[in-house]
Amino acid sequence: MVENPGTLPVTRNQNALSEAQLAEILTNPGFGAHFTDHMVLINWDEGQGWHDARIVPTAPLPLHPSAAVLHYAQEIFEGLKAYRWDDGSIHLFRPELNAARFNRSAQRLGMPELPESLFLDSIHELLALDGRWVPGNANEENLYIRPFMVANENLIGVRPSKSYLFCVLLTPAGAYYNAPMTLWLTPNFTRAAVGGTGKAKCGGNYAASLIAADEAAEHGCGQVLWLDGAERRWLEECGTMNIMFVTSDGELLTPESPNILEGVTRDSILQLAEDHHLRAVARPIDVDELKQRLEDGTITECFACGTAAVITPIIGFKAPEWELAVGNGEVGPKTAELREALLGIQYGRREDARGWTRPA
Ligand code: COI
Repeated sequence: MVENPGTLPVTRNQNALSEAQLAEILTNPGFGAHFTDHMVLINWDEGQGWHDARIVPTAPLPLHPSAAVLHYAQEIFEGLKAYRWDDGSIHLFRPELNAARFNRSAQRLGMPELPESLFLDSIHELLALDGRWVPGNANEENLYIRPFMVANENLIGVRPSKSYLFCVLLTPAGAYYNAPMTLWLTPNFTRAAVGGTGKAKCGGNYAASLIAADEAAEHGCGQVLWLDGAERRWLEECGTMNIMFVTSDGELLTPESPNILEGVTRDSILQLAEDHHLRAVARPIDVDELKQRLEDGTITECFACGTAAVITPIIGFKAPEWELAVGNGEVGPKTAELREALLGIQYGRREDARGWTRPA
């Protein structure tokens, strides 16, 4: 059955989950383990542009084994969330930043840009259909939104694909990281090179990071702290998240680098800093400064931030030759304050003075 409540035609899922099955999933959604009844698909073909935007039952994609993405990793994605407020309404947080970043990633990977209105409309229309999947907010649950694009030309050959598929998936989510963590400074791997894809949100960046995350775990750390690829000196970001420091002289300090992901959460927290009597400073930070300021106590707090991770406290750093705690190794007050402020806006419990939330 094809309907058209918005601009995208809808083929309804005849096997949609029952309310009872859904309630069971939403009680303990985990992260990225369950997918809603429907997804968005939009095709792009050379000479035709974007076409056939539609909402269909969530199902495996029709990909030929020679599809370019399976061989040469032409793939980009985004991550944002839908939040259920106490009055039952559903809201997005700065989704236009994800739409814009998606297109910057597309440019870098030689893929076609998607009109921002199509990116946003497809999310709104999918949420209108699958809104019942947005969990309540008792434990900071939400519905994680995963737009992505893959090169789907049947092609064994290294050149940009001549066809692409854009898809939006929705997955109910609890916390991604459950506890404060220590970061591992890997001596063996780097994430991004100057002129590489570090700024883009592409699957390849994450594939190349997995081995370092495993190394971090072997050293008892929750994630890796990436240093720059040229000198292995400058702090960039940590696995799946940007990083921030609170200093004893009132700065909220974060690394500036051409190779890091331009995090929506990073940008939001930098703007919130002034409400919490912190001066936001983004500048290059090297590992010697990190070490010295952990030793002399002028870095008082540290946290990592990202859409999935929100604000995750960092309580220590470990390198092959040294190991240092941040402050007294406990979650700091500014970290807790900023986390509460950000979540407060996202869940509609605090005034949204900067106009960041959008009804879904
Ligand atoms: C996000 O923060 O949205 C990501 O894409 C990272 C991943 C840990 C889910």
